[in-house]
Amino acid sequence: MASGLSIAVVGATGAAGQTTLRILEERKFPVCELRAFASERSVGKTVTFRGEPVTIRAIEPAAFRGVDIAFCSAGSAQSKEYEPMIVKAGATVIDKSNAFRMDPDVPLLVPEINAHAARRHHGILACPNCTTIVTVMPLKPLHDAGRLTRVIATSFQAVSGAGVHGIAELREQTLAWARGEAMVARHFPHQIAFNLVPAIDRFGPDGYTAEEMKLVNETRKILEAPGLPVAPTTVRVPVFTSHSISVTAETEVKITAGRARDLFARFPGLKLWDDPAQHRYPMPIAVEGQDDCFVGRIREDLSSPNGLSFWVVGDQLRKGAATNAVQIAELLLKS
Ligand code: A2P
Repeated sequence: MASGLSIAVVGATGAAGQTTLRILEERKFPVCELRAFASERSVGKTVTFRGEPVTIRAIEPAAFRGVDIAFCSAGSAQSKEYEPMIVKAGATVIDKSNAFRMDPDVPLLVPEINAHAARRHHGILACPNCTTIVTVMPLKPLHDAGRLTRVIATSFQAVSGAGVHGIAELREQTLAWARGEAMVARHFPHQIAFNLVPAIDRFGPDGYTAEEMKLVNETRKILEAPGLPVAPTTVRVPVFTSHSISVTAETEVKITAGRARDLFARFPGLKLWDDPAQHRYPMPIAVEGQDDCFVGRIREDLSSPNGLSFWVVGDQLRKGAATNAVQIAELLLKS
């Protein structure tokens, strides 16, 4: 067998897991053996890697012996249940769930921003929430240039963030609408086709949702800005795979729109699409399938002297999940 690493993908039948397989191929990650895992329901079924079928295995300690890196995107409860066992079996885990992100012993990584944090870990490295990743990409160069003092962020999140069932629900409701049939909400709390749902995940007592608090806490951890004030609103929209975020950021040192354009254009993993005269700005459909995040609508905030408003879009399944996870694995390879 060719040289390379033994890789496990847990949640290989899911939206993020399937994209992880594709990105490992695309980025030519040195995989000599691929082991795929999902729920008991899928054991014995196959997924495809490099054009070959890979049979889904049952999750048990012996199945992880010899694995170098395990990508896990099977949900938080599953991460908590399986990952200590996978680490014990000798693998390093890259976790896409919310299970360990705020654990001080677990690095929370966006490789363009805080690669240094990958040096210290105890076997688990966490990939941030998809909306957080797309939001922090442009915040980092602003923070470095002018010290952020406040962030207001409103997200427009694709159904892919809710996995394969979220994607299927938007498709089914759209088809039902076209046929003149009733649209049934099974996965989301309300109809998602032709609608917006201004709440993702459960509400806390203060009126913020769990998804909103991920954006607050993870942004602070990644930027190493523990007291940064962040005002979040997260909204589910009838878009298949890209998340968009409207951001207003205030900085200690004023950053003009022109300077922000320069900073964004030079930051790795960010692309500038900001030409109002040509109606050129990032949109979910245009960004789908790309690994970078795209920024546009850059303008100085009319309501605050040091405020800057902009719009950033990233493919939720790629930079928001699988691409970021594979980039973390690439960091491990380098070290
Ligand atoms: P399965 O397809 O067998 O249900 P998504 O986020 O797109 O919904 O995907 C979730 C992924 O997590 C799927 O691969 C799913 O497998 C997997 N999964 C769900 N529950 C479990 C479980 N209890 N153990 C292992 N994998 C699970």
